[in-house]
Amino acid sequence: MTQLNRGLFGEDFKFGVATSSYQIEGATEQDGRGASIWDTFCKSAGAIKHGHSGDIACDHYHRMTDDVDLMKWIGVDAYRFSIAWPRVLPHGRGAINEKGLDFYERLVDRLLAKGIDPCVTRYHWDLPEALPNGWLERDTVLAFADYTEVVARRLGDRVATWFTHNEPWCQAFLGYQIGMFAPGRKAISEALLCAHHLLLSHGLAVNVLRALVKAPVGIAPNFMPVYPASDSVQDIAAARRQDGYFNRWFIEPALGLGYPPDMVELYGSAMPVVSAEDLRTIAQPLDVVGVNYYERMVVADAPGNGLLQCRSVTEGNHPRTKDREIYPHGLLEQLRRLHREYGLERIVITENGAAFADELTEDGRIHDAGRVAFLQAHLERVVEARAEGIPVSGYFAWSLMDNFEWSEGYTLRYGLVHVDFDSQKRTPKDSALFYRELTRR
Ligand code: FCB
Repeated sequence: MTQLNRGLFGEDFKFGVATSSYQIEGATEQDGRGASIWDTFCKSAGAIKHGHSGDIACDHYHRMTDDVDLMKWIGVDAYRFSIAWPRVLPHGRGAINEKGLDFYERLVDRLLAKGIDPCVTRYHWDLPEALPNGWLERDTVLAFADYTEVVARRLGDRVATWFTHNEPWCQAFLGYQIGMFAPGRKAISEALLCAHHLLLSHGLAVNVLRALVKAPVGIAPNFMPVYPASDSVQDIAAARRQDGYFNRWFIEPALGLGYPPDMVELYGSAMPVVSAEDLRTIAQPLDVVGVNYYERMVVADAPGNGLLQCRSVTEGNHPRTKDREIYPHGLLEQLRRLHREYGLERIVITENGAAFADELTEDGRIHDAGRVAFLQAHLERVVEARAEGIPVSGYFAWSLMDNFEWSEGYTLRYGLVHVDFDSQKRTPKDSALFYRELTRR
């Protein structure tokens, strides 16, 4: 095991932690915040484990100053957070909620005062409930561009990096096809329409940001390398379909390659009408591409099984986190592909992390050796990628602290810092100490 230190990553490399608004802020009804689709979704019976919600979450809205101090203590160079659209524009458009915007301004200023780069995600799934039909409406795309302008005008001189969307796949397909995420709808045609509107809003937002800020602008999709279960032509084709569905569907239009033709054919009449002008709007030059990486997938051909006619299989005997297989090599392969196939010139790992059954021990600590090993293994792949000439310039661990893990409620802890959700006490885990030592070395 290599002892990791800053020198291995190069001088420009930024170590960060990431969070998102709905997962940590709480204070969902305070200071004029409007409702988001997640507030509504959490109220629908059976949607979230144990009926949990983000109503209080980590109470970060009230504890922001201490949380930034905690980041400083860990020693991070950058913090990736998202702005809650309904906190800034309670109705999705129109009147600005100054108190909401003030909160983010205080956060940004506090980060800067501590020498931490503020990196903003414009959208991490908490859409204002007030926008009729959500992402199914083309009007929402325009509202997103206006909202981007509001935020950029206030914070544009201080934010270090802008990401338009976080994991558009989750919003579109978990939200509108599988129904596991807000708004809980279940139609492939709706998912594809949502995906198109997300991409279009991304393109418009990049344009808005270009006009108002100097900082780099990008997007942060999730990527999952897909491997065929065997060398058979059928399994290889199945892996290709899964890859098109998950990986290629967002990055290719964003990079100006249009929607993958094989998938357009597969979706057939479920596809929305896509104009050449829309594709041009979507394809804006990007300064950076964020990579959210958690796992890989191995698939076999399975005629008759769902839209993609494939199924996921277990291959090998890899260690697991609480919810997924651990496969660090997939990160390296994903980075290689993004660099070689798409020629990306600047990549940042915007999320990578793991949930384990963390326990507070008698010494008052959390010895999360599994997470430390996870971080170490993935960071080693980043070092390898850089040695191969792949331009990775940052790594954000998901997450700063345990938080509301969407449909899993508070049952999955991804933090470097443990949160006691009754007392809101924060306790750095061994993984936070690992990160602290690494950033000092
Ligand atoms: C990602 C999400 C993030 C968090 C992690 C565990 O898919 O972007 O909000 O839930 O997974």
